[in-house]
Amino acid sequence: MINKMGLENDIQYVLLTEEQIKAKVKELGEAISRDYAGKNPLLVCILRGAVPFFADLCKQITDYMEMDFMAVSSYEDGMTSHGIVRIKKDMDKSIEGRHVIIVEDIMDSGNTLNHLTRLLGTRNPASLKIACLLDKPERRTCEITPDYFGFIVPDEFVVGYGLDYADAYRNLPYIGVLKPEVYTDVK
Ligand code: PRP
Repeated sequence: MINKMGLENDIQYVLLTEEQIKAKVKELGEAISRDYAGKNPLLVCILRGAVPFFADLCKQITDYMEMDFMAVSSYEDGMTSHGIVRIKKDMDKSIEGRHVIIVEDIMDSGNTLNHLTRLLGTRNPASLKIACLLDKPERRTCEITPDYFGFIVPDEFVVGYGLDYADAYRNLPYIGVLKPEVYTDVK
């Protein structure tokens, strides 16, 4: 898996530069700061892909806020495109009466966030919204859209800034498209 030529050599092209991401995250942070002024929102990071976005977004929020974390995994059931989402780590705080924002790196089929919003909705939050850096609407299989999103991306294999292939590339400071030979047998 580890390419001796180096991590960057596996990237076909840069889709979103570090500067573009930084500017967009600042914009999203400003919007959330405005919309949630005085509401002490609880931002919930969905591990692990959302970590870089979550950390940068929280730093752009200029009023009181709190953080919590959840880990989920999605399994395809083999028959339909509706995967089953399993909670691997639940959040620590109660969300009853709280203004909650789920923070994700990417919305693809929408399955993960569809399940999560249904689940968290049963816990009686005052409000529940989604902030997602990337949106791949072409891949959507359920009716869900992020309330705050950064960029619409094409249906390509994107990695970096939290997004992985086989758990690698999350540490790239930009978002790039992976060379097909990295994830296929073609050499
Ligand atoms: C990614 C991403 C979302 C999900 C989106 O997580 O962080 O949680 O896939 O896909 P969906 O809209 O089709 O449900 P992944 O399972 O790769 O885990 P990770 O965050 O640990 O990388």
